This record gives sequence, C-alpha cells and structure tokens, in this order.
Amino acid sequence: MKFHLILFNFLIINLLTSSPSSSAQSLSTFTSSNSPWQPSQNKTLVSPRSAFAAGFRHFPGSSNLYTFSIWYNNISDQTIVWSANWAIPVQASASLNITSNGQLRLTNGSSGPTIWSTPTSVSSNSTGLILTDDGNLMLGSWQSFDHPTDTFLPNQTFGNDTVLVSRNGKFSFNGSSLVFNGSDSYWTAANSFVSFGVDGLVQHNGGNPIILADFGQNRTRRLTLGDDGNLRFFSFDPDKHSWAIVWVAVLEICRIHGLCGPGYICFSNGLTLSGYECVCPPGFRRSTGSDSCVRKNPIIDMGKSKFLRLDYVNYSGGSNQTSINTLNLANCRSKCRLNQRCLGFGFKYDMFGYCVLQLDRLLNGYWSPGTEMTFYLRVDYSETDPSNFTGMSEVLNTTCPIQFSLPDPSAESDRTTRNIIIITILFTTEIAGAGLLFWAFLKRYVKYRDMAQTLGLGLLPTSGPKRFSYAEIKLATKDFSEENIIGKGGFSDVYIGKLQDSRPVAVKCLKNVTGGDAEFWGEVTIIARMHHLNLVRLWGFCNEKGRRILVYEHVPNGSLDKYLFRSSHNVSDGIDTTNETEAMIGLKQKPILDWNIRYRIALGVARAIAYLHEECLEWVLHCDIKPENILLGDDFCPKVADFGLSKLKKKEQIVTKSRIRGTRGYLAPEWVKNDSITSKVDVFSFGMVLLEIVTGARNLIQGPSAVASEEWYLPHWAFEMAIEERRMEEILDCQIKHAYDDKVHFKLIDRMVKTAMWCVQERAEMRPSMGKVAKMLEGTVEIMEPPKPTIFFIAGDN
Ligand SMILES: *[C@@H]1O[C@H](CO)[C@@H](O)[C@H](O)[C@H]1NC(C)=O
Ligand SMILES: *[C@@H]1O[C@H](CO)[C@@H](O)[C@H](O)[C@H]1NC(C)=O
Ligand SMILES: *[C@@H]1O[C@H](CO)[C@@H](O)[C@H](O)[C@H]1NC(C)=O
Ligand SMILES: *[C@@H]1O[C@H](CO)[C@@H](O)[C@H](O)[C@H]1NC(C)=O
Ligand SMILES: *[C@@H]1O[C@H](CO)[C@@H](O)[C@H](O)[C@H]1NC(C)=O
Ligand SMILES: *[C@@H]1O[C@H](CO)[C@@H](O)[C@H](O)[C@H]1NC(C)=O
Ligand SMILES: *[C@@H]1O[C@H](CO)[C@@H](O)[C@H](O)[C@H]1NC(C)=O
Ligand SMILES: *[C@@H]1O[C@H](CO)[C@@H](O)[C@H](O)[C@H]1NC(C)=O
Ligand SMILES: *[C@@H]1O[C@H](CO)[C@@H](O)[C@H](O)[C@H]1NC(C)=O
Ligand SMILES: *[C@@H]1O[C@H](CO)[C@@H](O)[C@H](O)[C@H]1NC(C)=O
Ligand SMILES: *[C@@H]1O[C@H](CO)[C@@H](O)[C@H](O)[C@H]1NC(C)=O
Ligand SMILES: *[C@@H]1O[C@H](CO)[C@@H](O)[C@H](O)[C@H]1NC(C)=O
Repeated sequence: MKFHLILFNFLIINLLTSSPSSSAQSLSTFTSSNSPWQPSQNKTLVSPRSAFAAGFRHFPGSSNLYTFSIWYNNISDQTIVWSANWAIPVQASASLNITSNGQLRLTNGSSGPTIWSTPTSVSSNSTGLILTDDGNLMLGSWQSFDHPTDTFLPNQTFGNDTVLVSRNGKFSFNGSSLVFNGSDSYWTAANSFVSFGVDGLVQHNGGNPIILADFGQNRTRRLTLGDDGNLRFFSFDPDKHSWAIVWVAVLEICRIHGLCGPGYICFSNGLTLSGYECVCPPGFRRSTGSDSCVRKNPIIDMGKSKFLRLDYVNYSGGSNQTSINTLNLANCRSKCRLNQRCLGFGFKYDMFGYCVLQLDRLLNGYWSPGTEMTFYLRVDYSETDPSNFTGMSEVLNTTCPIQFSLPDPSAESDRTTRNIIIITILFTTEIAGAGLLFWAFLKRYVKYRDMAQTLGLGLLPTSGPKRFSYAEIKLATKDFSEENIIGKGGFSDVYIGKLQDSRPVAVKCLKNVTGGDAEFWGEVTIIARMHHLNLVRLWGFCNEKGRRILVYEHVPNGSLDKYLFRSSHNVSDGIDTTNETEAMIGLKQKPILDWNIRYRIALGVARAIAYLHEECLEWVLHCDIKPENILLGDDFCPKVADFGLSKLKKKEQIVTKSRIRGTRGYLAPEWVKNDSITSKVDVFSFGMVLLEIVTGARNLIQGPSAVASEEWYLPHWAFEMAIEERRMEEILDCQIKHAYDDKVHFKLIDRMVKTAMWCVQERAEMRPSMGKVAKMLEGTVEIMEPPKPTIFFIAGDN
C-alpha cells in the first residue's frame, strides 16, 4: 500500500517536473555563447557533484525580484551562501552576460545600467563561468571565494581584506571584529580567523585551533553573519535535516550594538538565545516618529535633576567613553551632575573604579545579569517613575555572604568607599599565565580530542546553555523514576539520566528557588559560562511548568570522600544535604588513590576554585567545599560540583538556619564570628580538604590513631607531627603509608601540608588567595614556614 503511494507520488512529481514549459535547465558551465542569462529562463549552474548550484533566486518576500546567488543544491532548504546583488535585487528582465572582454556583468534589462560586475582585469581568455563542489564560482582568475557576502565556507581562506557583511548591510566581520554601522565594534576575537574544515576545526592566526561543538564529524558547515549581528557556525545535521548552531560569537544577544534604537534598553528574557525586546527605561517612552525612547518629562533645569538607579544596565556610545576611574560613587555622580551634556553614568562595583559618563546620547543600552554594572540615569526632578531594574544588591546579598553591602546612593561617606576598596581588593586577579598552565595540564593528562568531546570544552563556549524541554528531561530520567535517584536534599534532588544522544547526565531538580524566570536564566547563563576542566560542566536547564532543573555532565567515578574515608562517616550538617553520589557508588570497593593522583586532585581543585574566584569576575564563592563536592572523572581528573548555586537558594532558607552555609568541619571561623565573608572562606575549606587528602582522616571526627578526643583538631595535630617534629609519615593516610617513599614523595606532600597550614589560618587575611594556593601547590612560588594554626572549634550547635 505504502509502496503504491510512493510510486504514485513519484509519477506525479515526474509529470510535474517533466512538463516542458517549466523544465529547469542545468548547466555545468556558462559561457559568453549562452549569454544572456535571465531570471525567467530557469537555468541553474550546478557543481560537478551537485553540492552547490548558482542562478537567479527569488528575493525573499517578493515574487518579481531576483538575486543572482549560490546555494546548497543537496540540502532541502537550499540556503544561499553567496549573492551578487543582495542590496539591489533585479527584475525578471535583468540579464547576466559574459562580455566580449571576459567580464561577468549583471544589468537591469538587457542593456540597462550595470547592477554588479566582476572587475575588468579578469583575464579575457577564461573559458566560462564554473561552480566547484566547495561552492566557489569561478571565472578566469576571479572567484567568489575572494568576495564572500554573509557566509564563509570550508576551503575558503580569510584574507587581509576579506569582510563578511550581513544581508541587511548593518553588520560586518573582518576576521577579528564584529562591527555595527561600519565603525562601532562590539565583539573582538582573541586571534583573527583564518579558515575551517568540514571536521569542525577552526584555524586562526595564533595558538591552538578552536574546536566546534560537534568536532570530529565531517559535516556540511558554514560560518554566517546573521541579520541580528551575531556570527555563528552552523553544521548540517543529516538526521534532523536541519542546521545546528555549533558556535556563536556573542552569547548574550543584547551585547550586540544597534539591535535597539537610541535610548532603548535591550532586554533578553532568556526564552531563546536569539530573543530580545527593546524596552524604554523609566522616565522615557517610545517616540512616535522614530525608533527611539524620549523623555516623558524634559529636564528643564539640569541643576534640578536626579538619578534613577538601573541595576545590571549599561549604555555606551556617548561622545566620550573614557573612564574617570573613581571608586567613589558620589564622585562619579557629581562629575555627571556638573556636566550639562551628561545623560547618566555607568558605575561598576569592582576594584577598577569604572565610572563612565554618557554624554550627548544614550546608545547600546542593555540589561545583563552577568555584569556588576549599574547605570544611573539622569531624569527630571519631577519624574515619578520608579526604577524597575533592581536586584543587584539582592543578588550580592545572597551570593553567599550576607555581609556584602552596597552603599546606598543617597548616603555614602569615605567609609563606604573604603569598604568597597577592601571588598574589591580581595578579588584581585593574580592568576597570570593560567591559560598556559591549563594547556600544559591538559596535554599531560587528557587526550586532546577526548577533551573536546567528553568535556564539551571547546575553547570558545558553544551556544550557551541548552534549554531542555520538560518532556526531554522526563524521558532522560525515565519519568524521574526512583531507581534513577542518586541524591535527595533540602535544596534539590538529583537523578541520573541519559539524553537522546546517549550522553549520560546528572539532572538536578531544584526546590525553593528564589527569583523570577529572567533571574533564573541569568544565573544559569553565568554558571554555564564557567568553563574549566576541573568544574562539573552545566549542559543546560529546564524551566517549565514551574520546575527548575539543571542538567550537568555525569562524572563517572563518584566523589572524593568515598575514596578517602573508608569507614564512611557522613557529614551533613549543612543546609544542603544533597549527596549526589551516595547511591551510585554503593559499597563497591574503591581503588586507593596514590600520592600522585592525590596531588593532582588537590591542584585541580585549587585551580578550579581560583578560576571561580578570580577569573569569572562574577564574585562566585563556592561556600561548600568538601570531599563530597569533589567528583572524580576519568583518569581521576577532579571536578568541583555545586558551584554558583548558592545564589539561587531562597533567602529564607539561609536566614532561618542562621547565616551559616556549608558544612561543619569545613567552615571558616568567619561564619561563626560574624566577620565579613570573603573568598577566604573557600580557602579555609580547601585547606581542610587538603589535609584530609593527605591524612585520609575526616577532620573534627576522629584521629587516625587512638588520639581521638574532644581536644583533637586535625590541623593542629598535623602541624605538630609533620612540621614541628618533622615526622611526616605519622600523619599520612595509613591506607597508602606503605607506598610512601621519602625521597620521591616528601617534597610533594610537604608542599601540600604547608599549603594547607596557610589555608587554615584562623585570620582570613593570613590565608593566601586561591590563585596563590594553586601556585604554592605547583611549586612555582616559595612556601614560607607556616605559623601554627590556632585551635578553632565550632561552638556546639547553639
Ligand atoms: C521555472 O521552474 C519553476 C519550477 O521549477 C516553475 O514553477 C516555473 O513556471 C518555471 N518558469 C519558467 C519560465 O519556465
Ligand atoms: C552535499 O554534497 C557534498 C559534496 O558532494 C557533500 O560533501 C555533502 O555531504 C552533501 N551534503 C548532504 C547533506 O548530502
Ligand atoms: C530596473 O528597471 C526597471 C524598469 O525596467 C525599474 O523600474 C527599476 O527601478 C530598475 N531597477 C534598478 C535597480 O535600476
Ligand atoms: C548580453 O548579451 C546579449 C546577447 O549576446 C546582447 O544582446 C546584450 O546586449 C548583452 N547585454 C550586455 C549588457 O552586454
Ligand atoms: C590566458 O592568457 C594568458 C596570457 O594571455 C596566459 O598566460 C594564460 O595561461 C591563459 N589562461 C588560460 C586558462 O588559458
Ligand atoms: C578543497 O580544496 C581541495 C583542493 O584545493 C579539494 O581537493 C577539495 O575537494 C576541496 N574541498 C571541498 C569540500 O570541496
Ligand atoms: C596581510 O597583512 C600582513 C601583515 O599586515 C602582510 O604581511 C601580508 O603581506 C598581507 N597579505 C596580503 C595578501 O595582503
Ligand atoms: C578589524 O576591525 C577592527 C575594528 O575596526 C580593527 O581594529 C582590526 O584591526 C581589523 N582587523 C583586520 C584583520 O582587519
Ligand atoms: C574528514 O575529512 C578529512 C579531510 O577533510 C579526512 O582527512 C577525514 O578522514 C574525514 N573523516 C571522516 C570521519 O570521514
Ligand atoms: C520598566 O518600565 C518601563 C515604563 O516605565 C517599561 O517600558 C519597561 O518595559 C519596564 N521594564 C521592565 C524590565 O519591566
Ligand atoms: C574624555 O573624558 C576624560 C575623563 O573625563 C577626559 O580626561 C578627556 O579629556 C575627555 N576627552 C574629550 C575629548 O573630551
Ligand atoms: C542585605 O542583607 C542584609 C542582612 O540580611 C540587610 O540588612 C540588607 O538590607 C540587605 N541589603 C539589601 C540591599 O537588600
């Protein structure tokens, strides 16, 4: 029956296509003797293996206008990859001739004005126009590959003067920068782009190639500059018969200049990666005539104006973008107030004192939760609109520290300025050369290609977190079945699952999550942006039917505690008692980790946390570093889990259970002593973990020997043994004590112990930054003799 239907269809199609009036003529070459070529002729020039075709195509949305274009001939959507005349489509009477001097010329009508032509310098003895299987249209020495339009193909090479231009003509890409309107650059690549292959390897003029998300599969690929100003790599998925985006230049669409008119704030609701809205700021409304926002109440007297605070908003494009460099908000504001042309100013709560006045115009406004930027918009004194862009202080308040406080714009003093300086200096970046170390590390331990595929670690991020549908998640976790549960907690339940492409994942269903959809999306974007070999990778999320779900890579070997502590004592005093790996691991005997692996785990974790603290510039504190949150991947490559989530936890949860976050035994004294919480709390917890890695003993719970008592304190004991009495072997994990060779391992372990001692200092300012800790472990900085850590007890449970 089915067969008959197919046969029937086949006949119909045959009948239709073979009717003489519409028979499309396909050429393998076009010469001057075929001239002229007109849109009405239904001729196409086809490449030898039919991969590409060239000819006249209807201009989108028009039945009588045409462009002369090249498109994929063997892909159903016939995407256009090159066009002679996007800007000036022609009518059916247009003609394309190869002139007597060997020039290709497109004219309006058979002898009208020239719309487009190849230069006259093209050699005249060329035999005709041909199209190659890589999509190159050639006439003599002229080739379309030298003059791309909006798309770039494999086998094409970016020259010095090659430029891609979006079809609407607004955006361009010159190999290194994306530019709006000819001069306004909004994205720059680290190295300029050269070429790419069908396998997804992208060459640029420096360093290692970029790896696309589906690297390794030979696919039909293209690089296209879209009309939205974003540059994307596409690869054609033959199973789904559609183009998949495997890389985008600008992850947050609103950072593209020129999407919204003057005054507007580009606002991405996060529903799709390419969706955005242009909204007017408070005090402004859409102008009726032009595409811009205008004041509801004009400022009559500049002296009598006030500033509305717009969190996470920034404008740029005023006539002077130089930062005044002041850490003092009042200072920045008075500079703006005194300038008649100042329409507002951007201020950043970081150590760099970013303060930029927007003079004369408000352009490129956008809202992004990924920045610490606040914009102060100048409005008339009589303006009554409240600011509806809030939330910055709330987020900082719940990042983990409760004591971060932002100065209120109306009441600051020298003291608040000093506080900002103190806070910001704590986040000083000092991890120079991290990239290099990172590569050295990779080369040693992970095969290059496996890295790209299993870790999803294209050097440039792929298209951001994927938005999963609830149905997909349901399918992956077998309808959230009990057997797939691997952890239950107050904040989340964790399931293992398998995506349709058979990638194993850990699915974390959050409960009691704070904030609206946009905020959730914002946080997820930030977490997903954190790419580090030693961080568990977030693949995507689901935000449907009131459910908030995160989808992580699945790390096969379980958590570190299972390897360190055989007689598993569980520490779960923390608020989040999720233990991802409990069920998965079962009681199966785990191999004993040797000294080199332990060292490598310590270093990897230190680097991951240093990255969170210092490179993300997002002020991400982990707040709950413990062996349970360190997962081990293939090769025992450590991966830190559960970072970035403290922001999402509901505030009540934090407040009701006192302000303490994290887990007893790993908590820094600041938590108890009500001191301000800084990145040094993570350093303290890490120090404890480091000691546990060396001793194989759970701190606070029991000593490795019979000395367990109320007074026993792991750092104290380890210090006395290893440093005061120089009996290192006394503190080593008895499981592998026998494998300890003083000559081989002493230096390594000595470094770990001394670093740990610095980390667990009671006073936060004594502890090194995490970047420094990583260097101490590497041995690239000298470790001074640590002072003895003071005994510090968490005072009971009261
Ligand atoms: C060209 O071909 C299309 C379909 O292949 C057909 O609809 C159209 O009528 C043809 N035009 C001419 C002038 O033959
Ligand atoms: C189209 O043809 C080219 C060249 O023959 C080939 O490499 C490519 O895989 C084909 N694409 C599809 C979708 O068949
Ligand atoms: C082409 O010619 C037609 C009339 O034949 C005219 O209406 C049209 O504006 C011309 N287009 C251009 C781009 O010159
Ligand atoms: C194109 O070729 C045709 C036929 O050879 C000729 O009649 C016409 O004038 C040519 N047009 C141009 C613009 O060269
Ligand atoms: C075209 O002519 C030039 C010189 O007249 C010659 O060097 C070249 O080889 C010729 N090209 C072809 C394809 O015949
Ligand atoms: C790329 O060019 C080489 C030679 O220049 C050719 O052999 C190869 O087939 C081309 N690749 C494609 C996809 O056409
Ligand atoms: C491209 O630029 C580089 C450096 O500016 C120069 O050395 C090279 O010759 C240029 N190449 C071309 C084809 O112009
Ligand atoms: C591309 O444009 C940017 C900004 O206009 C410029 O700084 C850069 O040098 C250009 N790069 C190349 C390779 O032309
Ligand atoms: C992919 O193409 C490259 C050449 O472009 C070739 O060396 C390689 O073997 C191909 N890989 C597969 C899996 O077909
Ligand atoms: C803020 O209010 C303005 C009008 O006062 C409105 O146009 C805009 O959409 C609002 N923005 C948000 C993010 O709600
Ligand atoms: C731009 O602003 C900076 C800082 O306010 C100032 O030093 C500089 O002179 C200004 N430049 C111009 C051209 O106004
Ligand atoms: C931040 O939290 C503290 C303590 O809970 C509170 O006093 C303060 O008002 C909060 N700040 C803001 C801006 O919400």
